Amino acid sequence: MTELSQLAREVGRRRTFAIISHPDAGKTTLTEKLLLYGGAIHVAGQVSARRRQRQVTSDWMALERERGISITSTVLQFPYGGCVLNLLDTPGHQDFGEDTYRTLLAADSAVMLIDAAKGVEPQTKKLFAICRERKIPLFTFMNKLDRPSRNPLELLDELEHVLGLGVYPMNWPLGNGEYFRGVYDRRSHRLHLFERSAHGTTRAGVDVTDATDGALSDLVDAHSAAEFRESLDLLEGAGAAFDAGAVLGGEVTPVFFGSAVTNFGVQLFLDDFVRMAPPPSVQPLRDGGFVQADDERFSGFVFKIQANMDPRHRDRVAFVRLCSGRFERDLVVRNARTGAAVRLSRAMRLFADARESLETAYAGDVVGFVNPGSFAIGDTLYEGAPLEFSPIPAFAPEHFASIRNVDAASYKAFAKGVEQLREEGAVQVFEPWRGGAYEPILGVVGELQLEVAKYRLESEYGVRTTLSRRPYALAMRVLGDESAASLLHLPSNALLVRDSQTRGVALFESAWALQLAREWNPSVEFAPFAAEIVP
Ligand code: G4P
Repeated sequence: MTELSQLAREVGRRRTFAIISHPDAGKTTLTEKLLLYGGAIHVAGQVSARRRQRQVTSDWMALERERGISITSTVLQFPYGGCVLNLLDTPGHQDFGEDTYRTLLAADSAVMLIDAAKGVEPQTKKLFAICRERKIPLFTFMNKLDRPSRNPLELLDELEHVLGLGVYPMNWPLGNGEYFRGVYDRRSHRLHLFERSAHGTTRAGVDVTDATDGALSDLVDAHSAAEFRESLDLLEGAGAAFDAGAVLGGEVTPVFFGSAVTNFGVQLFLDDFVRMAPPPSVQPLRDGGFVQADDERFSGFVFKIQANMDPRHRDRVAFVRLCSGRFERDLVVRNARTGAAVRLSRAMRLFADARESLETAYAGDVVGFVNPGSFAIGDTLYEGAPLEFSPIPAFAPEHFASIRNVDAASYKAFAKGVEQLREEGAVQVFEPWRGGAYEPILGVVGELQLEVAKYRLESEYGVRTTLSRRPYALAMRVLGDESAASLLHLPSNALLVRDSQTRGVALFESAWALQLAREWNPSVEFAPFAAEIVP
């Protein structure tokens, strides 16, 4: 076998994906079950056990412990069905933030996990919007069918109407809650029976029978059987054939029903997921071109920097999504931003909070490099002819606070710390349009990031600060030149600021205030916030 074909084979079996969901939909549970089926853990409960353990052992980030949440996040790799799955963890609960969004830029597909009792919830919508923008394929898992759930047709209707996403149910639930009996696989025409006793830690055994009338009436009462058949008839009657192209284009989502906590439907899901989810293919370049994943030359981009990831290793880790070629330890690459050559010597793979050093990785994989300050978010690393990937967007902030340095003597460290947090993509930094003393306004996607920034300024830069929350919720770019911005007439509860590239941005408390500003300034364009991270 030639070198190149081995590379193409390795890349072809990568599936790099993230799970998008609203808190409590069951992401941790599903992650555990995926690992269980992948043979990466033997007893479900390890991921959450590690999470708890870390909360006990981690002494650096009191914040993390106090709040009982996990701020750090992980990349999990495990085998399944001949494929290598890379599951990128999207921070969820209070630690939701830019990192959550940026992780999606490193994924080739996403699993949309929905609580079948609740349907589409706000955080799922936000994350979906990024997947939609990138046109990445989405695979939907309707979870918690073992609990009373909403009507499956209604759930599909919601995906279509709330998200504007086409749906193709791969299987169909028979009952729910107490009366949940299993799922019917539309391709094989077989009913997979649910057993409540399979709860917990082992792989669920699955019995299969034909979904014939006789079998059905043994399983459920006449009314449920009739309802089930009616829905199936409706689905088959609606007649849309499965369209693999529409799935790959992110226009249609295959939908699977199941119950992660009881392992039910997870294997059915995984079998189809590895078959349908795309391997790494092309990555767009700033100049409009593309890099092919099976190109021999190494390339990748930094999508996340994690500072002080682990109390035992006080350092920064740059997470690189490999886009082409192969990584081998000590590979020397170039950083497109700085032009500098960098030896990639300390690479690691992460499993929950454990690190192992890593020798080889392929396009699609995510590798953490211990970063002695040489990388920033959005950096392109490459081997061979120069190239640069499309920039990573900065996401519109929704929470704001002024931050003030308390001791005049630490002014320099304060300014440096704020600047470094900005470069890292941890916060966006705005300054009042009219200048004055340096009291920047921080903007973030997730509220907790404000406190994390304050905490880090103190612990890493030795700077004491005070944070004052500002009531803005909406940042809009003010288009036009310097004078257009200066002449703006804004409602008294809005504020004109400069971003880090000195462009005008108006901060509003509500859409209503923005509407007023538009009426008062008909010749000014207020555009949706869009920016790149500029190190
Ligand atoms: P998250 O990471 O998305 O926030 O959700 P997580 O997996 O922590 O699950 C949230 C809760 O939902 C957990 O219950 C979990 O056991 C439950 N859950 C997940 N999947 C299913 C399912 O398929 N069926 C049912 N019935 N419950 C499910 P908890 O009571 O908050 O925690 P725990 O004490 O069970 O761990």
